[in-house]
Amino acid sequence: MLSEKSRPIIEATLPLVGSRIGAITADFYSRLFAAHPELLDGLFSRSNQRSGDQQRALAGSIAAFATHLVNNPDTLPEKVLSRIAHKHASLGITEEQYGVVHEHLFAAITADLAEVITPEIAEAWTEVYWLMADALIKLEKDLYASQVNSKLWMPWRVTAKQPAGTDAMTFTLEPADQTPVTDAKPGQYVSVKVQLPDGLRQVRQYSLSSTAGNSRVFTTKLNDGGEVSTALHAGVEPGDILEISNPYGEITLREGDGPVILASAGIGCTPTASILRSLAESGTRRKVLVLHADKAMENWALSDQMTADAVKINAELQLWLENPQHGSKEGFMSLREVDLPAHASLYLCGPLPFMKKIRDEAISAGIPATRIHYEVFGPDVWLAN
Ligand SMILES: Cc1cc2nc3c(=O)[nH]c(=O)nc-3n(C[C@H](O)[C@H](O)[C@H](O)COP(=O)(O)OP(=O)(O)OC[C@H]3O[C@@H](n4cnc5c(N)ncnc54)[C@H](O)[C@@H]3O)c2cc1C
Ligand code: HEM
Repeated sequence: MLSEKSRPIIEATLPLVGSRIGAITADFYSRLFAAHPELLDGLFSRSNQRSGDQQRALAGSIAAFATHLVNNPDTLPEKVLSRIAHKHASLGITEEQYGVVHEHLFAAITADLAEVITPEIAEAWTEVYWLMADALIKLEKDLYASQVNSKLWMPWRVTAKQPAGTDAMTFTLEPADQTPVTDAKPGQYVSVKVQLPDGLRQVRQYSLSSTAGNSRVFTTKLNDGGEVSTALHAGVEPGDILEISNPYGEITLREGDGPVILASAGIGCTPTASILRSLAESGTRRKVLVLHADKAMENWALSDQMTADAVKINAELQLWLENPQHGSKEGFMSLREVDLPAHASLYLCGPLPFMKKIRDEAISAGIPATRIHYEVFGPDVWLAN
């Protein structure tokens, strides 16, 4: 709960801090990595730092959190916190590291606002920081405790590597030691750690395209100029060992008997394919609509899996292709072209402009925001904007 003393101070300084938070977070990361260069080896993404996406995501989350506290001092923005906590847990973030982040974030805030900051302002923002940090620490503790093992990283052996559409590969892995394996929920992801040719380790998240059994299956799209997808596609073969986290992610299939709409574009089909697979395996009686958009039929990474699973449960499958083929629609997906069932929940994954458009159309069609669940394949800069 934000104190009565701090609330008016945060309200009064939010526009100023909000306007400076982009510069502050950029300076924060420079300070953090100067003091702790080891955090760039196997934890933070070098590419997200270069592109500025992680700076934007951190800035956006702080601004969203402070805005929420000013308007609702007694509650916390669960959705914002939950996404970050799952991402942090998949990376093995520890409670002690919050003190390190606090030190360098506040050094950056104090330096940037040197001419206007007072002890009262610093104290009020420190309160906001620790409200956010304590909430994340608690969520992350609960997430770690929900796993059947206490390991942050485990060795998994690649048992198969198969092409899955243009420039995509499906990797199947099995445990390489005796550590008990947590069952993943459909829609969840794992963090994958690889060593790059220059020796640096880098981590990325990959959605599990199916969650059955004691294996992990994920499908990666080769990203032009990307570090980890290139390392996986070019350098990882069956028999190799990869370091993988426990499964995390909160965009999972919600219980219920209402209709389910799965809408994806490009490689965004991985979490929706996993949800579809679980529906097919349970022989669901729910009405299911599978909507996918891609460049061309051969680009659709999980076409065989998704088509077979849709057939099993009589799900309606609609396809939008930029290079249309018999039976597909032409161009970009639009929900305006779909007869949407009442009381449906929507699961969404793909590039941000695609998700923004489909979410807007869904809301216009009467699907409440609370029943729209979307996965962002990268730092959540949607929130930041
Ligand atoms: C929850 C979640 C689930 C995901 N699931 C999947 C999945 O199932 N399948 C999948 O394929 N991906 C998935 N992703 C995305 C995946 O984690 C990686 O982001 C993706 O594979 C690209 O990683 P990379 O290391 O190859 O590219 P990166 O090295 O991270 O680079 C990303 C892009 O940025 C560009 N870039 C690099 N440096 C700069 C710079 N200086 N300025 C501007 N641009 C730059 C690169 O050229 C590249 O195009 C998921 C992400 C998340 C967060
Ligand atoms: C209150 C404090 C913190 C806030 C508000 C915060 C916020 C965020 C946000 C918004 C993201 C992006 C999530 C997404 O993918 O959408 C993120 C990712 C991340 N955070 Fe934090 N974080 C905090 C503390 C920490 C700490 C203590 C560490 C440990 C050093 C840490 C390490 C990371 C890493 C490694 C990532 C992934 C970065 C990447 O892949 O580029 N964070 N955090």
